[in-house]
Amino acid sequence: MMQPFTVAIDGPAAAGKGTISKAVAAHFDLVHLDTGLLYRAVGARMLLGEDPITAAQSLVAGDLDNPDLRTAEVAQAASRVAVIPEVRAALLDFQRAFARRSGGAVLDGRDIGTVICPRAEAKLFVTASAEVRAQRRLAELTEGGFQTDFDTVLADVKARDDRDMNRADAPLRPAEDAVILDTSDLSIDAAIAAAIDAVAARRAG
Ligand code: DC
Repeated sequence: MMQPFTVAIDGPAAAGKGTISKAVAAHFDLVHLDTGLLYRAVGARMLLGEDPITAAQSLVAGDLDNPDLRTAEVAQAASRVAVIPEVRAALLDFQRAFARRSGGAVLDGRDIGTVICPRAEAKLFVTASAEVRAQRRLAELTEGGFQTDFDTVLADVKARDDRDMNRADAPLRPAEDAVILDTSDLSIDAAIAAAIDAVAARRAG
């Protein structure tokens, strides 16, 4: 059997991690975990009045019944609960167990290459300017039927960047051995191709 091959994909909000991670997972036939969804699930439950630490513990115990996790409100709540060390600790083993699945896995988030899987075989840090990311997120939200505008989305993106990069526990930053992929001037197809090339280079050893 092949050795597990872990791909860690980190980066700020709306940089294209999700699309790139799905494409990389499909290309290399690996399973994929969007770890942001875990924090979003905890954030959504906090908005419903639940204690975030209890919510994180019950989530990994299998209680996955969640409201819509893709709203801007839930994204902010996710970033807020993500500063709580006990929340991060409650979600840690679940993520590491996923990464060890036979055949390997792609995990995307903020601290995969630095904290969750520091020995991942391939690490990417996917980024883009705040303006480009806000523009992409605006298009996504508008397509999904949410009414908002560029300035609101840009302020949201910057607030999350600020919180995610400046928290004490597992702040967002590239791992030393991560390949930096700035997608500001890349089409999605070009970004996917660059990510696959970077991972293929590591897989080849
Ligand atoms: O990737 P996302 O936008 O769905 O993530 C939502 C929030 O969750 C993000 O602003 C910070 C937090 N998060 C985190 O702290 N660590 C991760 N590995 C993934 C997400």
